[in-house]
Amino acid sequence: MYRLSRNDKCWCGSGKKYKLCHQKSDEKILMPLKRQGYPIPPRRLILNEEQIQGIRESAKITIAILDQLEDMVKEGLTTEEIDNFVHKYTTEHGGVPAPLHYQGFPKSCCTSINNVIAHGIPGKTALKNGDIINIDITTILNGYYSDSSSMYMVGEVSENARKLVEVPKQCMDEGIKAVKPYRPVGDIGNVIHDIADANGYGVVRDLCGHGVGIKFHDDPLVEHYRQKHATMIMVPGMVFTIEPMINEGTWRGRTLADNWTFITQDNKLSAQWEHTVVVTEDGCEILTK
Ligand code: MF3
Ligand code: CO
Ligand code: CO
Repeated sequence: MYRLSRNDKCWCGSGKKYKLCHQKSDEKILMPLKRQGYPIPPRRLILNEEQIQGIRESAKITIAILDQLEDMVKEGLTTEEIDNFVHKYTTEHGGVPAPLHYQGFPKSCCTSINNVIAHGIPGKTALKNGDIINIDITTILNGYYSDSSSMYMVGEVSENARKLVEVPKQCMDEGIKAVKPYRPVGDIGNVIHDIADANGYGVVRDLCGHGVGIKFHDDPLVEHYRQKHATMIMVPGMVFTIEPMINEGTWRGRTLADNWTFITQDNKLSAQWEHTVVVTEDGCEILTK
């Protein structure tokens, strides 16, 4: 199934031969799904315990940054000051901020305010009372990537904005609960889309969750909206993000001339939360919590 031969070491890290470990259960569960047309993850997407531990270590930096930002985010703080903190904290702890120079991205984190859906570039902009901001942190430590983002509210925030911050959090949390081994990854988008619909919000389609861990962006593609096609089967050891972007109005967005900043087409608010998870035998573990 995984192009492992019978006498290779099992993918699970037990040290046993594949034929004496997971070969039978893999074939029994995955072969019928494959025959039904579901893509089965290639071997490289199934990480072993040592790799998962590497991601946990990386996540300690990501988590600490997002936590400390809770106290830092205030009216008057500039997004460049946020970026300087992220760069300093990451490098002082032996990590590398993954966004810096990634496909030409100029800064160490993404700061997406109000109508910015994602990939806002830190700069001279100062936070204003009533703003909502997503700060997205990806850390590389010893080659392992952890990716997480949170929303922050500046001063007194309108009722609309507060609700728009809370619903995507619920979308992410319920999406995480939908992670079950041997189910298609499309289950996640189904529950997220239902919650967004119930609130009259749009689900962004142009950006998705993604495999992460030993690369920044890999398979599977984690769509946050309902899908018709057969999506990839989730298998224990797969690591990916769930990062729904939810809009107050239309789901459609557009990219600004800087080639990064992605904003809502109708200029209404957008919010996002993100965690990195690993599929386990009975659900998943959140690695960035
Ligand atoms: N962290 C973002 C994600 O969740 C990706 C940012 S790419 C960058 O996938 F280049 F803008 F940093
Ligand atoms: Co991500
Ligand atoms: Co991210």
